[in-house]
Amino acid sequence: MKKLTPQETRETFLDFMESKGHLRISGSSIIPKDDPSLLFINAGMAPMKSYFSGKETPPQSDLCNIQPCIRTIDIEDVGDRHHLTFFEMMGSWSIKNYFKDRAIDLAYELLTERFEFPKEKLYVTVYGGDKEKGIPADEDSIRFWQKTGMPDSHIVVLGEDNFWSAGDTGPCGPCTEIFFDTGDSHGKSYEKTGEFDTQNRYIEIWNAGVFMQYNRREDGTLEKLPFMSVDTGSGLERMVMTLNEKESVYDTESFKPYMDFIVDKMKLTDEDGMASARRVADHIRAATLILSEGVVPGKDGRDYIPRRLIRRSASIAMLRNAPGFSFDTLTKMVIDNMGQAYPKMRINQEAIRQTMAQELMSFQRSVKQGVRQFDKLTRDSDTLTGQQVFDLRSSLGMPLDLISELAKERKISVDMEGYKAEFAKHQMISRNLGGRK
Ligand code: GLY
Repeated sequence: MKKLTPQETRETFLDFMESKGHLRISGSSIIPKDDPSLLFINAGMAPMKSYFSGKETPPQSDLCNIQPCIRTIDIEDVGDRHHLTFFEMMGSWSIKNYFKDRAIDLAYELLTERFEFPKEKLYVTVYGGDKEKGIPADEDSIRFWQKTGMPDSHIVVLGEDNFWSAGDTGPCGPCTEIFFDTGDSHGKSYEKTGEFDTQNRYIEIWNAGVFMQYNRREDGTLEKLPFMSVDTGSGLERMVMTLNEKESVYDTESFKPYMDFIVDKMKLTDEDGMASARRVADHIRAATLILSEGVVPGKDGRDYIPRRLIRRSASIAMLRNAPGFSFDTLTKMVIDNMGQAYPKMRINQEAIRQTMAQELMSFQRSVKQGVRQFDKLTRDSDTLTGQQVFDLRSSLGMPLDLISELAKERKISVDMEGYKAEFAKHQMISRNLGGRK
């Protein structure tokens, strides 16, 4: 595998796609334009939905770019090896031009010849179909993978995970994804009859093609799109992690300076501590980008996302009791590192730092209020109901970790199952605006 920096990885990808006739276009802001189905741009294709539906005509049928993405649906997974709230997606598209065979050939050539991944370490997943919805299994992709030389034992047929859309509505279709095997130290190897682990050992490095052929309507039913297209996407940070054989995205140069700072100042050493450091690094990096776009932390919708990211980080710092740690220093590091690629970070630097400081102060006030409310609720009871936990979180912005810590300290039991049910109910109501994993 080629050891490449993030910039070399971007260039290798764009250069390859250009050499194959794709037009390099610029990425868009993370704030969607005229798309109420998303809080943030969560995939390279999201700003281009109208090309897939035929409402607008692209400058050329085959395109490529690098798109910053915010995936709110992944926030709870952050802390593992590879999930991020904010990542850069390398993407390519073919609108009403080539389809599965060329998409698979291109992905395979890019990975094995340009990035020089060892063939035996690649696995692919394909869509197994859905009888109820009348969608057939993707036999074509299996055939095209076999043609590249991919052994059958590395072709995994999966269900819903291989049907992709950017949100609850809009263009969608079956997809085929490529995973890199990071080896025995990360879990059992996949055997044909066994479970394919997509969380730890096998890291998804490329969605080699969403084969766009349907539009999902508001009521969840699918209608055929007027023509078929290909949408691909790969997380830059994961690609850099695997190319450089790093343990996690947080060990790559995009995160290392933040991680070193957080680990040092918060004095984190154990495994839980590392997961906390990863959360803080990811969340402050993501919040800085979001604030640079003029979003102000608040109670609902888009505004709630930076609030959640900042407050979750603040509660980690609070629980770790780390007086030497400074959010402002970390924010400044993010701006210094990323300001060239994201000029609004530099231009709005003062506003970002001020907003961050205000949010942290208002969090401290809420925590004080939250602790008072917690004590009131448990004055005559040694249990906190799911609804009460949900209210402490949603009305007063108390992070769950902090509620759990308080409960432990004051010997109060918490109905977590009840809380999860409340949370799920709320998520259903407010619709999933965060996109797919
Ligand atoms: N648009 C394909 C993906 O995000 O995986």
